[in-house]
Amino acid sequence: MIGPIRTPAQQLVTVFGGSGFLGRYVVSALAKRGYRIRIATRLPNRANFLPQGMVGQIHAVQANLRNRDSVAHAVAGADHVINLVGILKESGRQRFDDLQAEGPRLIAELAPPRATLIHVSAIGADSSSESAYARSKAAGEASLFRARPDAIVLRPSLMFGPGDSFFNRFAALARMLPVLPLAGAETRMQPVYAADVAEAIARAVEGKVEQGRVYECGGPEIRTFRELVQFVLDVTERRRLIVSLPTPVARMQGSVLGFLDTLTLGLLPDAFVMTRDQAIMLETDNVVSEAAKREGRTLEGLGILPDSCEAIVPSYLVRFRKTGQFDLQRNTVPSPAPDLMREESKGPAPGVQTLGPVSRGDTAGH
Ligand SMILES: NC(=O)c1ccc[n+]([C@@H]2O[C@H](COP(=O)([O-])OP(=O)(O)OC[C@H]3O[C@@H](n4cnc5c(N)ncnc54)[C@H](OP(=O)(O)O)[C@@H]3O)[C@@H](O)[C@H]2O)c1
Repeated sequence: MIGPIRTPAQQLVTVFGGSGFLGRYVVSALAKRGYRIRIATRLPNRANFLPQGMVGQIHAVQANLRNRDSVAHAVAGADHVINLVGILKESGRQRFDDLQAEGPRLIAELAPPRATLIHVSAIGADSSSESAYARSKAAGEASLFRARPDAIVLRPSLMFGPGDSFFNRFAALARMLPVLPLAGAETRMQPVYAADVAEAIARAVEGKVEQGRVYECGGPEIRTFRELVQFVLDVTERRRLIVSLPTPVARMQGSVLGFLDTLTLGLLPDAFVMTRDQAIMLETDNVVSEAAKREGRTLEGLGILPDSCEAIVPSYLVRFRKTGQFDLQRNTVPSPAPDLMREESKGPAPGVQTLGPVSRGDTAGH
């Protein structure tokens, strides 16, 4: 029997990882639609910066994917459960297996059976990969589908937006280093705006996304790693040498930096740390597959026209120019920072060099 239709305000969404980079966009997209949101985070005070919404609409609870009881508590009574938890490198008790391989299964087992399950994995998830990150993401998807075949999985490519770790990282490195050594310089990526991924997640919560499928989320452009770093240099008006590292050198550099990171108990600045596992990930293209495009398992297939990085990134990287945002004020009329709640992009910031002509159809996969 079909029950009465419930408004978003009558539905509770638990968001694991709601305090993270993508989490902020997801919480904004859901708050705008009027859902009640429970952010599950290890440190609820970290979620204080999130939009407050209506009185009582958003609140944070303590939860750790390594603690079964806290997960059970976080999903209790939820109508939708979203899992955004992920790590790029292991440290201390934060292991790929616990968080990315086992975590999705644990959430699926403990979530109410009627709850929609939405899980964020990554393009590159592959059980046969040499990378432990990629294997754990694949294992997480498999364990999730075993427990809940109706779950929805989204695999983003590299995500961007204010606060991202990729473009901000290379802009920061370019400020400090005369030479930028790159592992996987010719590897192709399809950067996707985090707000577009969040929109897909919000549509999944609304019941507009077919369940039991894996969606691949990429932006409108495919660029090599080197082109993206050159784009950062152009936007921040820095002249730096980009040096492509041969694969064995990149892996060795990753081993040394990973070791130093462990040795210093994670005290090395994040911008400098590239582990061996990450170097291995960078050997493989990170773009939407032909199969996903054919089957409509893409943002476009969900009716979302993704924004390009040239439209969004300059607005938050100008601060890395020698004279920061004042440079823009001197030379041009600045564009406002992108609005996380925006309906659509207003195009590139005035006076900002772009990556070159971009065709919406330029999304050839591998
Ligand atoms: N960023 C990208 O370019 C990218 C690309 C492809 C896929 N992805 C995937 O997208 C998802 C979101 O990425 P993101 O960039 O938003 O990551 P992020 O900013 O690092 O956020 C990760 C979240 O995971 C939570 N978390 C970490 N360990 C936890 C634990 N033991 N128990 C509970 N929560 C834990 C953190 O919350 P607390 O620290 O507050 O507990 C944080 O909110 C991840 O699954 C990531 O693998 C990201």
